[in-house]
Amino acid sequence: MHIVCIGGGPAGLYFGLLMKKLNPAHRVQVVERNKPYDTFGWGVVFSDATMENMRQWDAKTALEIESAFNHWDDIEVLIKGKRMRTTGHGFVGIGRKKLLNILQARCEALGVELAFEREVNSDEEFADADLIIASDGVNSKIRSRYAAAFRPDLIVRPNRFIWLGTNKPYDAFTFDFRRTRHGWFQAHIYKFDDNTSTFIVETTEDAFKAHGLDAVDQDQSIRFCENLFAEVLDGAALMTNARHLHGSGWLNFQRLVCGTWSHFNGNSHVVLMGDAAHTAHFAIGSGTKLALEDAIELTRQFQRIGDAPEHIPHVLAAYQQVRAIDVVRIQNAARNAMEWFEVVGSRYADTLEPEQFMYSLLTRSQRISHENLRLRDKAWLEGYERWFAKRCGVEVSSSEPAVPPMFTPLRLRGITLPNRIVVSPMAMYSAVDGIPGDFHLVHLGSRALGGAGLVFGEMTCVSADGRITPGCAGLWNDQQAAAWKRIVTFIHTMTAAKAGLQLGHAGRKGSTQLGWRQIDQPLEEGNWPLISASPIPYHGDGQVPREMTRRDLDEVKADFVAAARRGARAGFDVLELHCAHGYLLSSFLSPLTNTRNDQYGGGHENRARYPLEIFRAVREVWPQDRPISVRLSCHDWTEGGNTPADAAEFARLFKQIGADLIDCSSGQVWDDDKPVYGRLYQTPFADKIRNEIGIATMAVGAIFEADHVNSIIGAGRADLCALARPHLADAAWTLHEAARIGVRSIAWPNQYLSGKSQYETNLARAVAGTTG
Ligand SMILES: Cc1cc2nc3c(=O)[nH]c(=O)nc-3n(C[C@H](O)[C@H](O)[C@H](O)COP(=O)(O)OP(=O)(O)OC[C@H]3O[C@@H](n4cnc5c(N)ncnc54)[C@H](O)[C@@H]3O)c2cc1C
Ligand SMILES: Cc1cc2nc3c(=O)[nH]c(=O)nc-3n(C[C@H](O)[C@H](O)[C@H](O)COP(=O)(O)O)c2cc1C
Repeated sequence: MHIVCIGGGPAGLYFGLLMKKLNPAHRVQVVERNKPYDTFGWGVVFSDATMENMRQWDAKTALEIESAFNHWDDIEVLIKGKRMRTTGHGFVGIGRKKLLNILQARCEALGVELAFEREVNSDEEFADADLIIASDGVNSKIRSRYAAAFRPDLIVRPNRFIWLGTNKPYDAFTFDFRRTRHGWFQAHIYKFDDNTSTFIVETTEDAFKAHGLDAVDQDQSIRFCENLFAEVLDGAALMTNARHLHGSGWLNFQRLVCGTWSHFNGNSHVVLMGDAAHTAHFAIGSGTKLALEDAIELTRQFQRIGDAPEHIPHVLAAYQQVRAIDVVRIQNAARNAMEWFEVVGSRYADTLEPEQFMYSLLTRSQRISHENLRLRDKAWLEGYERWFAKRCGVEVSSSEPAVPPMFTPLRLRGITLPNRIVVSPMAMYSAVDGIPGDFHLVHLGSRALGGAGLVFGEMTCVSADGRITPGCAGLWNDQQAAAWKRIVTFIHTMTAAKAGLQLGHAGRKGSTQLGWRQIDQPLEEGNWPLISASPIPYHGDGQVPREMTRRDLDEVKADFVAAARRGARAGFDVLELHCAHGYLLSSFLSPLTNTRNDQYGGGHENRARYPLEIFRAVREVWPQDRPISVRLSCHDWTEGGNTPADAAEFARLFKQIGADLIDCSSGQVWDDDKPVYGRLYQTPFADKIRNEIGIATMAVGAIFEADHVNSIIGAGRADLCALARPHLADAAWTLHEAARIGVRSIAWPNQYLSGKSQYETNLARAVAGTTG
């Protein structure tokens, strides 16, 4: 075959040498516009897995790369005058120039034809090639030429960065955060040979422009960075090797994915590789790894299927199929890390204390969790756990085991929750005439015995017509209040847990069948009329609600007030106003379900007006020393619906009138919403609201391990974690998870103490691989 690689970066060179090695009869050319030693960029970092892969494909190249590697374990963070360090993170780095020189030399030794200083304008310059590799980087001309076939999706990210170098060698991967009068700048610094380090400076577009960096040249940009980072540079100068870039040298990261990776141009098959096909943000340093792994995979497919021209279409299809999956996985992890750096100035740098800021930085990609940090640097993590616990009022001496964030108390007004685990409100459809019975006593009581810090009852309806189903619990009469009091009294006298009351009105989602029958479908008989913000049913078969009149608004408000009074008398510690999931108050907040043209419809303030009126009225009768939470649907997951930015606006309005906690749920407002599920999938909403609005938040949704909770609470992404389904599977979830992660200090009910020691011993034996 005649193979031409357009672009002699890591992708083109490595693929060239692997194919020549696979079959020396192939004619392989690599054409590069730059001179052999003339390259943009400084150091790149790799993982051990990539090196292992490379060893298998060309041991000689791998050996040379490894002998040129710089290895380092530590991460150092500088912020607000504090310098902090942790170890055990294991990176390897190499200069990009050095890497390319190794690859170039190996290409030459194997007989690959290298042509430098040749600018390729079109793939048609190589009409006799069987295979053309478009390895010409993120701004690939070849990809642009066939954009209709490759279907590139390129998103320009908001932050600005400049890729510089310095001759000061740093002994740790160093992050330096500096506040300026126009916003925060961060430097990502890592050594890649004995006397050179990469020094990437990043900031927001606003700060970039406010400092006039869009109007200066590269030398002025460098001087600006040298002044800003003078402390960490300690007299060293910054350098650029990207003189070919116009203007000030600052770039925007471009996130790229392509729908199709190959195309037949009439003569040759053209295939994308490396940055031309996809990009991964430098925050997790995987661009070179992806380029090299692309080269390996394409070679592997030629080896597997056959390396003659007739096999090319089949090989290219298999290559894309395998690589596209890995690329999505890396891009997802890179996205979390990239977004963290995009919001760090507005969300974390000013609000989090340096210790917690560092924890947040280390867990930014969400691939590194609390327990991963323990494996990397146990001493540092335990030090952090002690620091965190102390802030929560728990002083642990250095001879005692540290307490993980999940088991620290939280104070809201006059109520102190013993830990951060909440039994999320869950409708049980088992009440009779709205009265919670023995089922509720045993169900909620056993979850309180099971160690959760706060146990919410189900959505408790403020009127008979406000119920979702005939089996829903209520608080519109004294008989119901007495039944709730029995449950709350049990929780208070028999456990350390606090009791939560979620008050709601079903609105347009009322009068439906029990949850385990046809959920959300009208009753077979005995339906009652519905009310909502606007006459919009939940789904096509649903009952059309009546738009609430002034009288309805006043009546429902009075119902909420009466129910809150009864709840206070029943002894509940925390009240939550259910403003989520498409129920009555949520139907006011969402533009999808509120089309009113009075003062209760329109912009944020108008749509929030009625829920805020209810909150105010309830706050007046709810005891001052007890907190109120508001549950919001932070994303409607539907075009035209509320987004996390809208939810943050609502949170701000509730905070202004005394809300203590925002419970960050999402969806269920619109019947065919399209939520993007996944582990901790709603936690980003809790993070945004907590750190941008400055109010305590509760994260909920697919949180199911102590490690998830510790990572969320430790990083300050939320103050509490609510778990619903895990508590259906295991009433003693908190006690079991404590034992699983080796936290012995959590009190079990006295009656169950002998179960505790057996359970802990059995777990310890299982870990050690022995049996009793
Ligand atoms: C600030 C920053 C930091 C990074 N840090 C890391 C990191 O730590 N680790 C990591 O793995 N990756 C990192 N990367 C990414 C990494 O540089 C790329 O992902 C990687 O180099 C991709 O390899 P490639 O061969 O696909 O493309 P490139 O390395 O971009 O190579 C493309 C080559 O094609 C040549 N070319 C382009 N057009 C033409 C033409 N028309 N004619 C002839 N030649 C042409 C170019 O001169 C270039 O040499 C970073 C990137 C940036 C911007
Ligand atoms: C059976 C069941 C009933 C639920 N009922 C309610 C409810 O009454 N009020 C409410 O706000 N959320 C309700 N939810 C939603 C949960 O509180 C929680 O937000 C959701 O299940 C996601 O958490 P998870 O992944 O831990 O299950 C219910 C969930 C389940 C599984």
